Amino acid sequence: MNELDRNRAMISECDDVILDALAKRMKCLQDVISYKKATGMPILQPDQERRKMQAFEDKIRKSGYDEYEAELLDIFKYILRNSRRIQAKALFDYNIFLIGFMGAGKSTIARGLSEKLEMQRVEMDELIVQKQQMSISEIFDEYGELYFRNLESNCLIELQKQKQTVVSCGGGIVMREDNRDTMKQNGRVVLLTATPETILERVKDSDERPILNNHMNVDYIAGLMEKRRERYQAAADVTIQTDNKTVTEICDEIITKLIMMDNQKEEA
Ligand code: S3P
Repeated sequence: MNELDRNRAMISECDDVILDALAKRMKCLQDVISYKKATGMPILQPDQERRKMQAFEDKIRKSGYDEYEAELLDIFKYILRNSRRIQAKALFDYNIFLIGFMGAGKSTIARGLSEKLEMQRVEMDELIVQKQQMSISEIFDEYGELYFRNLESNCLIELQKQKQTVVSCGGGIVMREDNRDTMKQNGRVVLLTATPETILERVKDSDERPILNNHMNVDYIAGLMEKRRERYQAAADVTIQTDNKTVTEICDEIITKLIMMDNQKEEA
């Protein structure tokens, strides 16, 4: 055996050790999942992840591996990210549909959730815009609302193929009962709410909400919200009020409520 072969053999031995350790680590993760499931604890605990990264850094320095510090930390970061993904997969093996009035925070929360849970994210309006090569306003102007609603329903049906995706729906998705059924078939539906005043504040500068064209005022928003209220509520598995809350607070609340709901379903 020459030197190259000897080193290659040693690398293979190291890889075996790494593989065994990772498999052992994943087994331990399953227990963590069971615990979090039973207690409704959030998956991502930034403090715990920070503590872990710090511990890695300290260990690398203490062990004299400084030369490879950046590369080693990169690997550990990746391992932690995967831990989050594995945990989320075990807890949420379905799509999470975010519904609610325009400006309720669906897109922002979808981004936050997909990051926290390492899940894929789809923005329904964006998908429609991409497919049609037209803006939402252009679609409304040229083909009318009914045409847009059909595109929306088709988009939802296509999304049934996907799993473990956070979907930020258009505000009017609940207007069709079929859409509500489609969402429930392979997912949980989370309703985000906000007061008309908060909604106006969030959407007042938008020119991509044809439904609100020439109606950018609290009274109109409150009226339309009221008209849709029952439909939103009928579709929702869980409801989260978003006024004066941070993205992290809202995401944690969603995660906790979904886990509690799933636990109850399992017990029933
Ligand atoms: C609509 C909401 C919009 C968009 C379209 C119609 C509605 O989505 O789908 O302008 O009827 O409420 P956002 O809620 O994401 O703005």
